[in-house]
Amino acid sequence: LLVGIDIGTQGAKAVVIDDMGHVVSSADVSYSFESPQPGWCEQSPSLWWEAVIACLHRLWKNGVDPADIRAVGATGQMHSLVILDERNQPIRPAILWNDGRTLKECGEIEEIIGADRLFTTTRNPILPGFTAPKLLWLKNNEPHQYSRIKKVLMPKDYLVHELTGEFSADVTDASGTCLLDVQKREWAWDIIKDLGFSSEWFPPVSESQEVVGTIGETASRVTGLPIGIPVVAGAGDNAAAALGNGIITERKGSISIGTSGTVFVPLNELPDLARDQAGTLHLFCHCLPGMWHAMGTTLSAGMSLRWLRDTFEKENYDDLLDGVEQVEAGADGLLFFPYLNGERSPLNNPRAKGVFFGLTYGHHRKSMARAVIEGVCYSLRDVLDMMEKAGIEVADWTVTGGAIKNPIWTKVLADVYQQHLQVHVEREGPAYGVSILAGLGNGVWKAVTDLPMLDQVANRITCNRENQHVYDAQFARYQSIAQAMNPLF
Ligand code: XUL
Repeated sequence: LLVGIDIGTQGAKAVVIDDMGHVVSSADVSYSFESPQPGWCEQSPSLWWEAVIACLHRLWKNGVDPADIRAVGATGQMHSLVILDERNQPIRPAILWNDGRTLKECGEIEEIIGADRLFTTTRNPILPGFTAPKLLWLKNNEPHQYSRIKKVLMPKDYLVHELTGEFSADVTDASGTCLLDVQKREWAWDIIKDLGFSSEWFPPVSESQEVVGTIGETASRVTGLPIGIPVVAGAGDNAAAALGNGIITERKGSISIGTSGTVFVPLNELPDLARDQAGTLHLFCHCLPGMWHAMGTTLSAGMSLRWLRDTFEKENYDDLLDGVEQVEAGADGLLFFPYLNGERSPLNNPRAKGVFFGLTYGHHRKSMARAVIEGVCYSLRDVLDMMEKAGIEVADWTVTGGAIKNPIWTKVLADVYQQHLQVHVEREGPAYGVSILAGLGNGVWKAVTDLPMLDQVANRITCNRENQHVYDAQFARYQSIAQAMNPLF
């Protein structure tokens, strides 16, 4: 058996799979993040570790025998900054991927490095959610904490360290720091040096499936995992989820609706884009050697509906969404802009705010719920638009992420995209994908081609052509209003 562990934004999850790649058991534990100031998002790494321990114990309680576990893989939220001191302890809470405090530092980095040089090496624009500007923010605002930094890690690297005592990084997550030479799949040492960061902070970068350590004595005692079993470097959550959904060839794309929303398309080579043309497109390493991917991220996807639920209804999602299908497509002209914590792709504005536009006496809670779902789908179409402008084409779309549990999400998404969508068999997301990496790295399978289930479709969602007109019109309004509002936030 293999275990994959995911450190998400709203909870941790552990999945156990067998040698055929099928899920045997899974467990999750939820937690939340702090927002100490508007636009800020933080989470304590100890919360992750406690949740992971609890997940693993649930697996054992569910009947999984820890002695059968052969290898472990870790995945998690990307970009979130974990800094450790000389005793390998977190210096402060992690600053998360959806935190928007670093606009000034993004400008500073472009000034120090030069926007063109930065783009040519890292293949990405510098965006507030990425990791490098967070380090500079610490230097500018918390110099005492900054001076204590001995290691810089991504959340799943922190977990790998807790499990093995080793420091490691992987190509997918390192891509999201804006400190990686994405073509060479190695740290961009010259940029790290020119920003005044120490090269010693950054652990060696491995391919996602490489073994980087083994379960240590203390970790074994607290988690129940067998001592000495291998742990792979793992991957960022989007790459891991894509692998688990068979999104490993060009022209196949996935749309994920979790806390965030992402559009993800694998690439055999990095496209030669001009900086202007790329906009806020992310070009990162994929979790298979020799592959990359393009991605765009909307910051509050499932999180927008959660906000609505928690703010207005205090009910569960089923109650909130009951009757929403009966509201006509287009929510009677009501538009929602899901910028509750700023927006990344394509707006790149951490100051953006959530907006309902077009409320009348005729609207009610159900139309607002429908508008929230539609607004998230428009924001994902906005990401698609950005990809198309960059010349990235997709023939087959898969939808994944927590939101697919409720059919209204996938139905609206298919109609807003005007694309048929497929849902894959394995629905356990990033944790499933990284358990596959653990198997690939430990000889359970030689190649992904040994895993036919990755390509198995469980369900197809057909788009309703009758809704094309209304959604095209609403999306055009969405884009023009977003553009008009953007400078006003
Ligand atoms: C991707 C991103 C989010 C996080 C969520 O760029 O910021 O999807 O990975 O965990």
